[in-house]
Amino acid sequence: MEEDETKNKLEKIFAQYKGERSELIPILQDTQRYIGYLPDDAMQAIADFLTMPESQVYGVATFYKQFHFTRRGKNKIAVCYGTACHVKGATRLIESFERQLGIACGSTTEDYEYSLERVACVGCCCLAPVVVFNEEIYAHFTPDKVAVILEETRTRTCTHKADKRGGKQQ
Ligand code: FES
Repeated sequence: MEEDETKNKLEKIFAQYKGERSELIPILQDTQRYIGYLPDDAMQAIADFLTMPESQVYGVATFYKQFHFTRRGKNKIAVCYGTACHVKGATRLIESFERQLGIACGSTTEDYEYSLERVACVGCCCLAPVVVFNEEIYAHFTPDKVAVILEETRTRTCTHKADKRGGKQQ
């Protein structure tokens, strides 16, 4: 079932390309966007589509930090660990997220709701310390905002689920 879903998504992605090796990176990016990460069967399918060895596809993909090879959480939390953010308390932010999520930095919660990672400078040092939450920048972040931001996401998720079922959140 899951395999068929991956296959369908890949067919839609491949339909937009000619099958040339120069298209590898955009195909990897599209695959990650639609599937959430780059599973083994997708890597094999990409290699077949571009008629290149799978090892070469992995070679390119592993070179870039933007690609992930294991399933990640629906909510992606990236704590900037560049110099400015480190000096301004990024370590405390990471510890706070780790404590509240019950996971180590670099991993994903069991329910696949959250992934936590630390990243290199995201380019807005004057806003340090910075947290990127689902691609949105949060400036001058403090440990006490961790619980707030997680609670907001949980509420949003519950509301969304209730709406989907046709119910209303009270
Ligand atoms: S060090 Fe964090 S934004 Fe530059």
